[in-house]
Amino acid sequence: MDFSRIRASEKMRELLWESLEGGHWHGRGPYTKEVERLLSERLNASVWMTTSCTHALELALRLCHLADGDEVILPSYAFPSVANAVLMANGTIRYAPIEPVTGCLDVDALPGLVTERTKAVLVVHYGGQSHQIRELATFCRQNHLFLIEDAAQAFGSTVDGRALGTFGDFSAISFHGTKNVGCGEGGALVIRQPDSQQREMIESYLEKGTNRLSFERQQVSHYEWTSLGSSLVPSDLLMALLYGGLQEFDENNALRKNIYERYVRYFQENSFSGLERFSGQIESETTHNAHLFWLVWKDAFLAQKFIDLMRERNIPCYPHFYPLHLSKMGKRFRLGHEDLWYEEQIKDTLVRLPLFSSMSQSEVDMVFVALEEVREDFYG
Ligand SMILES: Cc1ncc(COP(=O)(O)O)c(C=O)c1O
Repeated sequence: MDFSRIRASEKMRELLWESLEGGHWHGRGPYTKEVERLLSERLNASVWMTTSCTHALELALRLCHLADGDEVILPSYAFPSVANAVLMANGTIRYAPIEPVTGCLDVDALPGLVTERTKAVLVVHYGGQSHQIRELATFCRQNHLFLIEDAAQAFGSTVDGRALGTFGDFSAISFHGTKNVGCGEGGALVIRQPDSQQREMIESYLEKGTNRLSFERQQVSHYEWTSLGSSLVPSDLLMALLYGGLQEFDENNALRKNIYERYVRYFQENSFSGLERFSGQIESETTHNAHLFWLVWKDAFLAQKFIDLMRERNIPCYPHFYPLHLSKMGKRFRLGHEDLWYEEQIKDTLVRLPLFSSMSQSEVDMVFVALEEVREDFYG
């Protein structure tokens, strides 16, 4: 049984074939434009497609114009891409703790972390959830800090009808194959109200530091090297796949949400000794996309026992992030919250269950049969 699986629908196959036949295999072709239009409408923001969320984060950090040593506050319980993006933009990292119910940055810890060098806060919407995102946006505005949202896992999540990824100054979404909708590798940079300088910088950076897009719009007579840049535009073949996936997203994600809600109900109705908390246990501010379903056990022994017993029944379950401040690279950065005990604990006690929209009924049944058997074993 798979932990996560990407599936090409008929529509995606047709669009991929059309794109292949159309001959525009490189970037910024018709499907990229369609995807950007569709996402802009859905998010009510400007969108640039990128080769990954990692690259969109790197570009977002460049847009903050950090000076050497400027600090960016980010949670240690995060994917390495956020930390790399800060370092690549000349910044340094200040670690923040997360709050346990959502797994997102603890907004209450921020006043104690801001220094005169702080320029931005980078928040991760863990599992498609947010935590006090409006309060966080207000805090950043009042303290003249950029707010960057790592919305890699949050496509489809909203707070009071507004999409996650549109509360900050910049945000990045992932369309990696493990996400709720994906094209293998892909991402997007999202900005609610970009000014003309930001637009120019983004267009140039994406296109190898050139004004190629102005040239295509016949605004200049030739294109040339205009600024620092890289190559961040995805192949239009991938955007054809994503265009299909996005059109079917709401329908597919409802299936995913259904499985997520079954997990929540099951753990509400059946107690496991040693289970401390699970996702969805407490109502959050987010109408979320059911990206992850996780359990947090009392200790590492119980978490590993659960993983092993599920694996014996052919159900893969996995821990998640290795805290950045403990990682080989992340240890070099010592600024931030002194006591990240919860992050250190959940690296060994948080366990994710299989969850993807193309899970068949028999696969879902298999998981619940295994859970029942494991529950007996836990008490046995
Ligand atoms: C929270 C978070 N941020 C960033 C990324 C990086 O996304 P991508 O693979 O699209 O670069 C991931 C990928 O899993 C992620 O989970």
